[in-house]
Amino acid sequence: MGDTSHLIGLLLGTEEDWPTAFETLLSRLGPIADASGGRHSVTTERITMEPFDLRDKPRYDLVVDRLAYWYFLPREWLKKVALMDDVYLLNSPFTFQSMEKHAAYCAMLRLGLKVPRTVLVPHKNPPDNERFAYTAAKYNLPFDLDEIAASVGYPLFMKPYDGGQWVGVSHIRDSAELHRAYDASGQRLMHLQASIEGYEVFARSLSIGAETMVMHFRPELPMHERYAVTHDFLTPEVGDEVLTISRLINAFFRWEFNSCETLIRGSDAYPIDYANASPDVALTSLHYYFPWAMSALLRWCVFCVVTGRRPRLDLDTRRYFEIGDREDLSYAEKLAAYRELADEYFEVDRYRDFCDSRLPHVDELVLDWITSADFDRLLVDTVRAGYPHHEHERFIGHFRGLIGQWVRERGATATLS
Ligand SMILES: Nc1ncnc2c1ncn2[C@@H]1O[C@H](COP(=O)(O)OP(=O)(O)O)[C@@H](O)[C@H]1O
Ligand SMILES: [Mg+2]
Repeated sequence: MGDTSHLIGLLLGTEEDWPTAFETLLSRLGPIADASGGRHSVTTERITMEPFDLRDKPRYDLVVDRLAYWYFLPREWLKKVALMDDVYLLNSPFTFQSMEKHAAYCAMLRLGLKVPRTVLVPHKNPPDNERFAYTAAKYNLPFDLDEIAASVGYPLFMKPYDGGQWVGVSHIRDSAELHRAYDASGQRLMHLQASIEGYEVFARSLSIGAETMVMHFRPELPMHERYAVTHDFLTPEVGDEVLTISRLINAFFRWEFNSCETLIRGSDAYPIDYANASPDVALTSLHYYFPWAMSALLRWCVFCVVTGRRPRLDLDTRRYFEIGDREDLSYAEKLAAYRELADEYFEVDRYRDFCDSRLPHVDELVLDWITSADFDRLLVDTVRAGYPHHEHERFIGHFRGLIGQWVRERGATATLS
């Protein structure tokens, strides 16, 4: 077998931190041998925007996309390379465009997940379309917003049906707040959703391919403190349930780089948000978990290109719904059945085996780099670019401390000064 080279494209916006980390680690990885003795070299490149002929052949085997959710030129290019050229994508632009948070709620409700009661209400201000007045006069029924809110029960959340970055999300305690928020929603289509009050844990799970990190998230704190560094904040059963929910959603929609938010109250796990096309992986928010995220991204991308994992644009909804629709299965039995489908989709066993046999050096590689002066420079530059001048020293110390903790737990010493 000869040598094969693979190119990974990064479709980036304003981020510098994780792309630099990913590029550095990949450049240090060296060639990977496959099971039949062939050698694979994997390199990465940042993708630039330009006009494209629909018959152009892309040079990329895989693209990590961070732009398509708001920038349509690359989104349409991604669809072209997916449909015509079998380029492997993190994530599918098709499901992200059509399966907003709303559709994800619907699918997960049918599968029996504990999505809080959710009602979609008509726009406060109509869409700009000359047909609207006639259509609405003929077909729109009057509705009583207060009555709907009362039936959902206060407090509740009003939030956009398509979600994202907490924009337009309000916690509503009474009718006055309800009307204020509805008036402010303008042309955005909104959900009213029962609030999970008094939850004990907000679990945010970041999934990259077959790997998931379930983290204790504290949304009420400033950005740099939101991810708590703690390991046993869920019972093993609930931890596994949260992982299964995340993997299920990702396998169902073909999302391979996504974060999922689940609120835990008592022994119940309520998934509330899980269509995040470009999940937060910033060094200054993930800190302690950043080395894991970079390792997982590296491993998953390399696994996909070296094993020639085929991109799957088609959905398998029927197989999931057949389980969800069964009345003889309990919630736990359904979860177990979904887990099998999701593990199969992500080839969890084959991936683990690949990591053990082909990528055994990744942990050490990442540790070496994280403890280097090169990484420290990235940390310092990232803080300088993201925080006002008078906070630089404090935050450089803060993040060095958290990274240092990660390093110490691996039994090594950081050169972080
Ligand atoms: N049903 C709910 N119960 C309790 N808190 C909620 C609920 N829905 C949203 N929230 C809170 O509001 C935040 C933003 O809502 P979310 O659905 O995650 O929107 P976005 O897509 O903008 O992130 C959540 O992180 C959570 O803190
Ligand atoms: Mg959210």
